[in-house]
Amino acid sequence: MKRVLVTGGAGYIGSHVVKLLGERGYEVKVYDNLSTGHRESVLYGDLIVGDLSDTKLLRTTLTDFAPDVVMHFAAFIEVEESVRQPLKYYRNNACNTMNLLNVMQECGIGNFIFSSTAAVYGLPEFTPVSEDAPLVPINPYGQSKRCVEGALMDISQAGAVKYISLRYFNVAGADPDGKLGQKYENPTHLITRALKTAKGEFEKFQMFGTDYPTPDGTCIRDYIHVTDLVEAHILAMEYLPGSDRSGIFNLGYGHGYSVREVIDIAKKVTGTDFRVEETGRREGDPIELVADSSRIRKDLGWRPGYDDLEFIIKTAWDWERSL
Ligand code: UFG
Repeated sequence: MKRVLVTGGAGYIGSHVVKLLGERGYEVKVYDNLSTGHRESVLYGDLIVGDLSDTKLLRTTLTDFAPDVVMHFAAFIEVEESVRQPLKYYRNNACNTMNLLNVMQECGIGNFIFSSTAAVYGLPEFTPVSEDAPLVPINPYGQSKRCVEGALMDISQAGAVKYISLRYFNVAGADPDGKLGQKYENPTHLITRALKTAKGEFEKFQMFGTDYPTPDGTCIRDYIHVTDLVEAHILAMEYLPGSDRSGIFNLGYGHGYSVREVIDIAKKVTGTDFRVEETGRREGDPIELVADSSRIRKDLGWRPGYDDLEFIIKTAWDWERSL
């Protein structure tokens, strides 16, 4: 694999992938509508500003660039918003992805790396959750990603595409070189929200739900550093040509932290005792999501280097302070 088209390459995860691809000498092109991404986050390759619903532009881009593989990050990602605006999620995450796959098929491009999510599992019966667990999403975000996984299975069986679907757990942290990180004005994710509160951008941090059946009453998640996550994309991409089948892999470390634990570490890292208000549950939140990541470690040889929540939060804090 040499030439990589990255959709959503101006966004948080996509831009980290583009940086790594560029550093490793791959030829990269980014396709992004800049709805949540930023032009200046694209550190390597050309940026085509376009929407995935624009079939004509997609076709021209794929024909001109002729990528060996498409990495698809462009999507909406907020669970709570998806509950309020489900069609926004189905239209972009599902319909636009089908459009992309269709144009790829027309152009004869057969390798695809898909950003999926732990939200496809819903409320898993066992933890850590393995890839073979039933897919019962409890919010439209997870459902929209599950739709695509279902389509990919069918399309690959028909021989049109080989794909790897990576089911992300909670991605966090920032580029340790300090060049990239999350850039949202009104972030909803736990760590970014907590750090912006520590910085004084919000008056208080709201803790959503303290009556869950967990040891301290708050939800548990598996936080993975963005650099470990993007490294897995390179492994996945290089695995595709030599393999005769597609694959689905969890991407998390295999252990979880509660919201309270994350907040304690955020307070320690920032040296700020910011205000925390305990409020009601947020709709659509699963109680506990922790990855069984043995498959990706075994099949792709993935060896994470940043499995340390304090380090993850520190990189995010360094980035946040640089903004
Ligand atoms: N939380 C708060 N207060 C906040 C923000 C979050 O208490 O201000 C809590 C949430 O209620 C939840 C936990 O922190 O219990 C984590 O919430 P995030 O919003 O940071 O992340 P989610 O778990 O909702 O979702 C993320 C990604 C999804 C992915 C999922 C998989 O957005 O793409 O992780 O675990 F599917």
